[in-house]
Amino acid sequence: MTPIKACIFDLDGVIVDTAKFHYLAWKRLANELGFDFTEEDNERLKGVSRMDSLNILLEIGGVEVDDKVKDELARKKNEWYVELITHMDEKEILPGTTEFLTLLKENGIKISLGSASKNAKMILEKIGIVHMFDAIIDGTDITKAKPDPEVFLLGAKALNVEPGECIVFEDAVSGVEAAISAGMYVVGIGSKETLYKANDVVKSLADMTLDRLAK
Ligand code: BG6
Ligand code: MG
Repeated sequence: MTPIKACIFDLDGVIVDTAKFHYLAWKRLANELGFDFTEEDNERLKGVSRMDSLNILLEIGGVEVDDKVKDELARKKNEWYVELITHMDEKEILPGTTEFLTLLKENGIKISLGSASKNAKMILEKIGIVHMFDAIIDGTDITKAKPDPEVFLLGAKALNVEPGECIVFEDAVSGVEAAISAGMYVVGIGSKETLYKANDVVKSLADMTLDRLAK
């Protein structure tokens, strides 16, 4: 069995629950464009890059605009999103996260972030755990969005480990697919029904133990 040398974590939905803030900002944009955007619609945006999310939202509203307007709409949404996350602090860290990261550190397992978000580093700083990461790969480093494996392969490279020596933690279907394409073992965070492609599924990082990892 290949020894585990590194763990790569998605951010949104794994370490923090930012989906609610993304939702409020996208909903505001949809409303401004004259249509509604439900929480169910928002599920389709989890793990999806900012521009791809905008394209889905516009498709839902049946709105067609050129690329220049799209850039402006994405900028606006991000401004609102950043406003909403301004007050984030360590209380927003999802249960079990800090304990699990500490356990990994104590056992010499390297830690990387593998997120599609361009706001990832700022969020890690706000919640006070940025120092626990040996590498941070986020939306500013990648050219191809999940389900492309780029984000996770860059994480393995930054940590100087082989893909087969990494475990990925992901809440989004596209992220689970990205990890599988990268040749990594993947633990889904959420429901087995949605994340059935993952090698293992837990409700949250609070359910993770070293024994479970070793298996
Ligand atoms: C992902 C989120 O982590 O990051 C998506 O799940 C989001 O909902 C994407 O669209 C991009 O985030 P940002 O912060 O760069 O707009
Ligand atoms: Mg996620």
